[in-house]
Amino acid sequence: MTDRYAVVGNPVAHSLSPRIHAAFARETSQDIEYTGMLAPLDAFKPALLQFRDDGGRGVNVTLPFKYQAWQFVDAHARGALEASAVNTIHFHDGKSTGYNTDGVGLVTDLQKNLDFAIYGKRVLIMGAGGASYGVMYPLLTAPPQTLVVANRTFEKAEGLVRHFERYKDLAQEGISARRYEDLAGTEFDLVINATSAGLTDQMPSLPVNIFAPDALAYDMVYGKETPFMRFSAAHGIRTTDGLGMLVEQAAESFWLWRAVRPQTAPVIAALRNDA
Ligand code: ATR
Repeated sequence: MTDRYAVVGNPVAHSLSPRIHAAFARETSQDIEYTGMLAPLDAFKPALLQFRDDGGRGVNVTLPFKYQAWQFVDAHARGALEASAVNTIHFHDGKSTGYNTDGVGLVTDLQKNLDFAIYGKRVLIMGAGGASYGVMYPLLTAPPQTLVVANRTFEKAEGLVRHFERYKDLAQEGISARRYEDLAGTEFDLVINATSAGLTDQMPSLPVNIFAPDALAYDMVYGKETPFMRFSAAHGIRTTDGLGMLVEQAAESFWLWRAVRPQTAPVIAALRNDA
């Protein structure tokens, strides 16, 4: 019998996940069906229980349900617990386990696809919302020399740093919260945009000289060029969007469900071709 999976969100029609997982399944000869599932904003849990009771084996969870998914699962894998967000659920033996593969997706895209070693680097992450929470722990285990979190609402950056306080020593020089204006005069090797500013064609108010000469600028947004991407490219900085992260987080979910690792490069290339 064909095993069933889905991506649950609201909205969900725009999701590339069904296409990505169909490509993985073809390539690895796995007999699965993977669909998009729109859950009502006030009925995530019933939708999930229905899918499980109908024989569903697992789901990916997208906005705005990642925190509700974290609350829903019976057990959390390392990384998901720290992130306070779950993007992958595996149903098994009447139980559910929650994972967060976003951070692994980011780190894999950086290290494997972009050949960027995070180890010993000075890393800046912009934003202190769910996207940042999801990637902090895997980034810290890389580990960087220093990890700075900047946010427009400074208190949220402080709250995020407090949340990950017990892991701060993973980075040689720890984690800290900053205001954007206080970044002037500090250089970073990797600048990650985890804000939603790009979706409304805006960018955080970054000082100009924050990029080290060989820096990489990474925007988690995909499918559009954001003002941050234009800003970093205009400064001669190597710049990338988050399409690779999207495909790598999907591959990690596929691996957790199927114990088979799909190739990601052909899928990333195919999606870029169609963009
Ligand atoms: P997500 O779960 O996608 O991270 P979120 O929790 O709404 O979404 O967080 C969005 C992040 O983008 C926040 O860090 C937000 O900054 P504030 O905490 O100050 O709101 C950031 N953000 C959104 N628009 C921004 C803008 N125009 N400039 C700077 N930061 C912005």
